Amino acid sequence: MAKVKTRYVCHGCGYQTVKFFGRCPGCGEWGTLLEEAIEEPTPGGRGWLRPAHRSDPVPITEVPAACEERWPTGFGELDRVLGGGLVPGSLVLIGGDPGIGKSTLLLQASAQIAQARGPVLYVSGEESSRQIHLRARRLKAMEPSLLVLPETDLSAVERAVERIDPRCLVIDSIQTVHDPDVSSAPGSVAQVRECTGRLLRLAKERELATLIVGHVTKEGAIAGPRLLEHMVDAVVYFEGARHHTYRILRAVKNRFGSTNEIGIFEMRDGGLREVHNPSELFLPDRQIASTGSAVVAGLEGTRPILVEIQALVADSGYAVPRRTASGIDVQRVALMLAVLEKRCGLYLRNQDTYVNVAGGVRLDEPAVDLGLAVSLASSFRDRPVSPRDVYIGEVGLTGEIRTVSRMEQRLGEAVKLGFQRCIVPAGNARELHGPPGMEIIAVETVEAAFKAAFEG
Ligand code: TYD
Ligand code: MG
Repeated sequence: MAKVKTRYVCHGCGYQTVKFFGRCPGCGEWGTLLEEAIEEPTPGGRGWLRPAHRSDPVPITEVPAACEERWPTGFGELDRVLGGGLVPGSLVLIGGDPGIGKSTLLLQASAQIAQARGPVLYVSGEESSRQIHLRARRLKAMEPSLLVLPETDLSAVERAVERIDPRCLVIDSIQTVHDPDVSSAPGSVAQVRECTGRLLRLAKERELATLIVGHVTKEGAIAGPRLLEHMVDAVVYFEGARHHTYRILRAVKNRFGSTNEIGIFEMRDGGLREVHNPSELFLPDRQIASTGSAVVAGLEGTRPILVEIQALVADSGYAVPRRTASGIDVQRVALMLAVLEKRCGLYLRNQDTYVNVAGGVRLDEPAVDLGLAVSLASSFRDRPVSPRDVYIGEVGLTGEIRTVSRMEQRLGEAVKLGFQRCIVPAGNARELHGPPGMEIIAVETVEAAFKAAFEG
């Protein structure tokens, strides 16, 4: 009897070896190598690495210009993250924690695509047709050309695609479908790789826009090997803070667009609703001036959002003062405290410091430095700043305020939300035409900014 050949595959990084190791030579993790059978390649078989269309090399100038088609999904926020809509023949992976709303998003988008473009096949290995029906009713996604198929066998899915010839295919989720020819369990490395390979081939051969749901492991990688991310055209994460109703869609890889864009949704009783003006969500009503609070105009992708930074600086009862930050890098806070102490003479070394970005957003661009500095100083000095002020600027180590990009857009957003004064870097102010109704105060140093904030 022929000996069955096996190999070991790391379920973290996809590293393959014929010999067993306790520690993966690829990623260095312990105990991640799993044994699997090596399949004999069928001659001219269905290996997904085989190009769908063999062709000779052609000069790049003579490649027929593909008119890039984009299908709107009915969600402007999703379209933007995808780079302007769904591309026919593309394979998109939607990752996220269980319960975050991936199925909801795709069901709503499927109904809208089905209405505009024709049949969409929604394959669910997680829910029965009745469950999907109930959900669709609640989401007002009752659309006759949205076809649901509760199925986990990939061959059956392929046959259904042959029969129906849909425009778009949704697989919810990749961890539940399986290829009957591969012996390992659904969700295993071999299954996920093989199924994604077959879906990839199907997508390219039939120009079928395919959306795949992938659950995320607690390590943060899409379950199964990372190689899933390499195989698809775009990887989009759906994420959200546990205690908030809004959800953020973020592209981490996109062959058809930028990865800077985010889409913002709100989870309601009737499903996901797009949030066109995120600042309204992140900026609660701020009528009264309170200490330790400053509004900054940050950017998420190309979109400005206005967010409140809150700081609490208080005498420390500890030998080493506490410093915690949420929504902003704690190292950035430490750096700002050092600048304030050294350049502005604020005695902060025996103070506990807590910084919080309201609404649970994450700020990671330097343009929010000035707002952070002002909120810290405001709390330390117990002096409020006007609730009608916005702060924009990067703070350098010498206490200078450095210029930031896209100032016009940030100011535009601030004016829309009724802010009346904006403290900006002097370097930006030179060529800046402030929008009407907005007083622009140009500053060169943090000291000058404090003067404007607390005395102006
Ligand atoms: P779901 O789409 O099933 O998440 P995933 O597919 O990512 O696992 O979303 C489930 C959550 O969304 C659940 O906790 C309930 C909530 N939800 C609403 O708040 N409103 C709705 O209309 C729907 C359909 C779900
Ligand atoms: Mg789901």
